[in-house]
Amino acid sequence: MKPAQLFLYPSATICLILAASAQSRPLFSLSKAFHALADQIQVPVLFPNPLTHNKNMPPPENDNTVSTGVIISDVIGKTQSIAIFSGLTRDIDSISRRLDDASQNATVLAPQNGVMRELKRKPWEDPQDYAAFGEKAYEGGEGEDRAHRNLRRFVEAHVVPLSPWEEGRKVKTLAGSEVWYETKEGKKVIQPHGVEVVSIADKVANGEVWVLAGSLA
Ligand SMILES: *[C@@H]1O[C@H](CO)[C@@H](O)[C@H](O)[C@H]1NC(C)=O
Repeated sequence: MKPAQLFLYPSATICLILAASAQSRPLFSLSKAFHALADQIQVPVLFPNPLTHNKNMPPPENDNTVSTGVIISDVIGKTQSIAIFSGLTRDIDSISRRLDDASQNATVLAPQNGVMRELKRKPWEDPQDYAAFGEKAYEGGEGEDRAHRNLRRFVEAHVVPLSPWEEGRKVKTLAGSEVWYETKEGKKVIQPHGVEVVSIADKVANGEVWVLAGSLA
């Protein structure tokens, strides 16, 4: 298998999982596959990442230069530590279109893989759905729609629709939740969640990708 294929695999997997559940598979197959996905994320580390060899890419860990002509959708997949989240951004049409649009800036707040693996509930789950529809909340066609909507809302809660984003400026994420950030001891902290920004993975023509030590939803 070529490295490129391996690298694309996680995103394709989620599509398959969601497609399969549309045919009334139980939720169990979703969660199991999500865990399997999370585990597989480690695999590509063993291979050179083809995307980082692209000459147009900014050098890694360079916080100051903006690469012209490169946009978020070109780079978000190259940062291994946020591979689970970036897979979700590619799977949700409205988000992938936004990040692929050079005329619309965004600051993507991407939780690290460890955060995604340890979420108290899966990003497609909502306690209110279980309260309203019981254990089978995500089965069948309507359940599938619910899971999709929740997953989209989770990802939208991690996209700030502007860049540059000034410290202290309160903005609504694509999900409508208000966020801002403060700098404490040299580190950005996303508020009101108190989630630390570990690093800035990319600064490109239509925005930035920040790596988070926690989730905002
Ligand atoms: C979009 O981001 C680029 C790169 O940071 C910046 O130069 C440009 O002014 C931004 N555009 C808007 C409308 O904020």
